[in-house]
Amino acid sequence: MSFGAGPTFVGPGFGAAPCHRHMPLSKQRSLAEDVGLADPEVKGAVIAVDGPAASGKGTVARALASHFNLPHMDTGLLYRAVALNLWRWGGDAGNQFEALRACDDLGFDQADPELRSEPVSKIASMISAYPAVRAALLQRQQDFAGQAGGAVLDGRDIGTVIAPHADVKLFVTASAQVRAERRLKELQERGMSAHYEDVLADIRSRDERDAGREVAPLKQAADALLLDTSTLTLEQAIAEALRLVDKRLARAAP
Ligand code: CDP
Repeated sequence: MSFGAGPTFVGPGFGAAPCHRHMPLSKQRSLAEDVGLADPEVKGAVIAVDGPAASGKGTVARALASHFNLPHMDTGLLYRAVALNLWRWGGDAGNQFEALRACDDLGFDQADPELRSEPVSKIASMISAYPAVRAALLQRQQDFAGQAGGAVLDGRDIGTVIAPHADVKLFVTASAQVRAERRLKELQERGMSAHYEDVLADIRSRDERDAGREVAPLKQAADALLLDTSTLTLEQAIAEALRLVDKRLARAAP
């Protein structure tokens, strides 16, 4: 198992505390019992979770962090924070230099609903294709992955670029149709009106942008375990992720 040596990043309102603190204790225990794991402590393990939009990677990553008592970084939030800065300044998302300037001040509140708004999601998807923006955010993510106690990170390029030596890599995916249905439900739950066809088209164009960009495109790392959540409920996806990670960690143990 590799143990990173880099400094710990604790940003404002961002991955500062292990997520298990936000989950009721009763739920943590039942999750562990459900998958028959005895000791949820895996100090030092780095777990990389990648996948396309609405695949369930964030939920899976949070559950893994909670279960294994590891700090968690949702790297998509970094790109969203840059996008939100740019949007608030009225900057041009089509201009790499303006996007780079928006990386200067990345203190943000992860509970800010605007981070997940549609315009910000669209801008995040655009500016994340810029090499200069990715380079500006790289160190912060690598420092988080390198902290001594281990970490869980989720995004698009964790297993390929940010933490290529991660102990376990998961690539979480689902069909575009299923992901569109999930995103539509999410939007409706937030009281926003949207049409399935539009959401599906948006998911497809984001997939294309993510997979087609030159720097750090979305792709499954050669040594990543595939978790297709198309036909799984949330609980089943989490249980399967825990099973896969546990098996891989057990295999790597001396
Ligand atoms: O889950 P969803 O696609 O809605 O968004 P996210 O994971 O919060 O990521 C926001 C945007 O940042 C996405 O459109 C990705 O293109 C980009 N991103 C990236 O390029 N690399 C990462 N490691 C994480 C996110």
